[in-house]
Amino acid sequence: PAAGPLQGRRVLMTAGPTREAIDPVRFIGNRSSGKMGYALAAALGGLGAEVILVSGPTALACPSGVERIAVESAAQMHAAVMARASDCHIFVAAAAVADYRVERPAVAKIKKQAETLTLGLVRNPDILADVAALPQPPFTVGFAAETHDLEAHATAKLERKRLDMIAANHVGDGAGFEVDDNALLVFWRGGQQRLPTMPKASLGVALAQLIGARYAASLAG
Ligand code: PMT
Repeated sequence: PAAGPLQGRRVLMTAGPTREAIDPVRFIGNRSSGKMGYALAAALGGLGAEVILVSGPTALACPSGVERIAVESAAQMHAAVMARASDCHIFVAAAAVADYRVERPAVAKIKKQAETLTLGLVRNPDILADVAALPQPPFTVGFAAETHDLEAHATAKLERKRLDMIAANHVGDGAGFEVDDNALLVFWRGGQQRLPTMPKASLGVALAQLIGARYAASLAG
C-alpha cells in the first residue's frame, strides 16, 4: 500500500496524569490512567509515525516502537515537551496536566497538627498553549475533558489556544478517566467528527487516522 500521511513523521505526545508535590511523600494528582494517550501513541506508531511519549506516572507498558520519557510534575512535562517541540511535525496533548502546583512544597514530611491546613497553589504553564504559540508550531492537537457543555468548551479551547484540532470527551460519573471505553467529539476549523463509544484501543486508531487526514489537509493548504 502507498505510504500514509503519518509515515516517517515525528509525533510528540503527552499522556497520563501529573503529580504536584505537597511534601516528600504526598502529591496532588488526578484520575488519568494514561490509557487513552497510550492507545493513541500505539496507533500513531502503527501508521508509521516516530512517536515520543512524554508520560506522567502510569501502570502501563510503553507501546512497542514508541520512545517514552517519564516525568512526574507539570513543570517537568513542560520542560521535556518544550525541549523537543520545535523538532516534531505533530504534537498531541492527551495528558491530564495539573493546572496548579503547590507554591512551596514542604522539604520535610508535614506533621499532623492543627485542625485545618491551607495549601497555597500557583498556576502551572499550559504546555499545549505554549507549543501552539511557537513561531513555527507543529500541527497541534489538544484534548478537552469536560463535565458539561462539551462542544462549547471544546471549540472555545480550539480558538483560544490556536489549535489545529481538539478531541473532546465527557468526564466524571465514570466516563473518560480510568475506564477502558471512551467516546470523542473531534473539532477543527470547518469540521467535526463524532467517534462513538468504543474501547480506547479502537478509538486511538480512529483518532490517529483522523489526525493523519487533517495533517495531510493542512500541508495541502
Ligand atoms: O488517561 P485516561 O484514564 O485514559 O483518561 C483519558 C483522559 C480523559 C485523561 C483524556 O482523554 C483527556 O481528556 N486528556 C486531557 C485531560 C485534560 O486535562 O483536559 P483539559 O480540558 O483540562 O485540558 C485541555 C488541554 O490542555 C489538554 O490537551 C491538556 O493536555 C492540555 N493542558 C492543560 C493544562 C496544562 N497546564 N497544560 C496542558 O498541556
